[in-house]
Amino acid sequence: MSDLFSFKGAKGAGWSQPEPSLDNEHLMNSIPEQLRRKSLPNWPRASEPEIVRHYTWLSHRNFGIDNGFYPLGSCTMKHNPRVNEKIVQLPGMDRIHPLQPEHHVQGLLAIYFEMQEMLATCSGMDQVTLQPVAGAQGEFTAMRCIQEYHKSIGQQHRSKVIVPDSAHGTNPASASMCGYEIIEIPSGSDGCLDLDALKSAVGDDTAAMMITNPSTLGIFEHQIAEAAKIVHSAGGQMYYDGANFNAIIGKTDPGRMGFDAVHYNLHKTFSQPHGGGGPGSGPIGVKQHLRQFLPTPLAGRREIDDSDRGGVGDGYWYFWEDVGKDSIGKVQQWNGNAGAVVRSWAFYRRYGRELEKMSEHAVLNSNYLRYKIMNPDKEVIEKIHAMPVDGAASKLVMHEFTLSMSPLKDLNGVTGKDVAKRLLDYGVMAPTLYFPMIVPECLMIEPTETESKEVLDRFAKDFHTILSEDPNIVTTAPHTTDVKRVDEVWAARNLILKHPGEDEI
Ligand SMILES: Cc1ncc(COP(=O)(O)O)c(C=O)c1O
Repeated sequence: MSDLFSFKGAKGAGWSQPEPSLDNEHLMNSIPEQLRRKSLPNWPRASEPEIVRHYTWLSHRNFGIDNGFYPLGSCTMKHNPRVNEKIVQLPGMDRIHPLQPEHHVQGLLAIYFEMQEMLATCSGMDQVTLQPVAGAQGEFTAMRCIQEYHKSIGQQHRSKVIVPDSAHGTNPASASMCGYEIIEIPSGSDGCLDLDALKSAVGDDTAAMMITNPSTLGIFEHQIAEAAKIVHSAGGQMYYDGANFNAIIGKTDPGRMGFDAVHYNLHKTFSQPHGGGGPGSGPIGVKQHLRQFLPTPLAGRREIDDSDRGGVGDGYWYFWEDVGKDSIGKVQQWNGNAGAVVRSWAFYRRYGRELEKMSEHAVLNSNYLRYKIMNPDKEVIEKIHAMPVDGAASKLVMHEFTLSMSPLKDLNGVTGKDVAKRLLDYGVMAPTLYFPMIVPECLMIEPTETESKEVLDRFAKDFHTILSEDPNIVTTAPHTTDVKRVDEVWAARNLILKHPGEDEI
C-alpha cells in the first residue's frame, strides 16, 4: 500500500516538493478500504521540468485572446484585464471557504450584493441572482422560474416557448429541458423579428418568448416593445438572452424593452476569462413577480450601527437571504462562481457609471471593421455579402456583424469555413462559423471594444488578401498551425476524453 504514495518522491514524480508531514500509514487509514487503489494507474511519468515543458508546449499549440485577435461572434472575447486577477487573488477573496460563516466573509458578500444591484440597474430588473454559472444555466433557471410563476397563477397549461430562427441553440435547449415545446418563427427579409409571424404563433398555450437583442445578426430589434406587448397580451413572459449585452449597456435595458427575465454572461460582457467550456457565470435578473421563485439564497443586506464594530464598515451587514418556500431551489452547489463574480466586479468598478463607454466602443469597432471589409472595393463586394442584404438595418450594426461567403463559394469554391481556417495562418482566431444558420456560408465577427484601430485595419487587410488568394491555398488551410484541418465529424463521433492508462484504474 505504501507504494501508492512512494512514487511522489521518486524520479518521474512530476514535482519536487518535500514529503507531506503526515506519514503514509496515517493517510491510508483515513481512506475506507473499498476506496483504496489496489495498484498504481498506468499514467506517464516525467520529472518536474519535463512536466512544465509539456504543459508549456501544449499551451503553445492553443490559440487564446493573449495570442492574437479573437473576433468570435456572439462570444465577446475581450481582453481580460490583469488587474482583475490581482483583485481576485487578494487573501480576502481566494483564501476563504464557501462554508465560512457570514461574519468572516462580509467583503465577498458585499461584492455579491453590489453585483446583484449593478446588474439589476443595468438591465431594468428588480432582483438578480448570481447562482447560475453559465448563460445556458441562467436560461434554464429563468425558464424554471417562469414555469413556477405560471403554475402559481393556475396557468400550468402554458407549454410552448417561441424562439426566432436566429436564436442561439441554448435557448430552445434550455426551454426544452424544462419540458416546453419549441415554436420557431422566421425572421423577416431585413433580418428582424417578423411581427406577423409572432402574432400567429402566440396563443393561450404560450409560456414565453426567448430572444436576444441585438439579435445574432448584430441588429437591434426596433420592434421589440411591440413584440413584448403581443406576447404579454397572450399571457406569455418575455425572456432576454443577454449574451449581447456588450452592445447596449448604459444605453437601454431589457426592462424598458418589456422583458420579464434576463441572463447575463459575466464571462463575455464583464471580461471573466472564458473559452474551452469555462469557468463562467450566468446570473439572471427578474421582475418582481418572478422574484419569489429564484434559486435560494440571495445576497442581502441590512443597515447596522458601525460603532458596534469600531466604526469599521459601510453601515451594512451582509447576509445570505433565504428566498422562501416558492424558490425553485439551488441550481449550483454553492452560490455561484465567486471568482468570476469578483473579476467581473473589478471590471465594472473601473468603468463605474461610464459603463456605457464600453458599449459605445464595441459598437464603433464593429461598424468600423464592417465598413473596412465591405467598402469601397467593388471586387470585395462581389465576393461577400454583408448580411442582411436589404433594409435600414443593413447600414449600421451593433457590436457584431455577419458576412455571407456564398458569392465567393459560387465564384471559386472557397467556403466560409475555408476563409475561417485560413485566417488562423494570419495569426487570427477564426470568427464564428455557420451561425446564425439563416445566413448561408456565414462568418460572424465581433471585434469587441478592447481592440485598437491598427488591429482592425490589419484584419481587414488580411481578410481581403485571403479573398484573392489561390483557392488551393485557402481550401487546404491552415498551413502554419500545429494541428492542421481536423475531421470534425470523426472527432465529434469518436470522443476520446481520457488517458488510455485510466482504463486500468
Ligand atoms: C446568444 C447566446 N446565448 C446564449 C449563450 C450561452 O451562454 P453560455 O455559453 O455561457 O452557456 C451564448 C454562448 O455563446 C450565446 O452566444
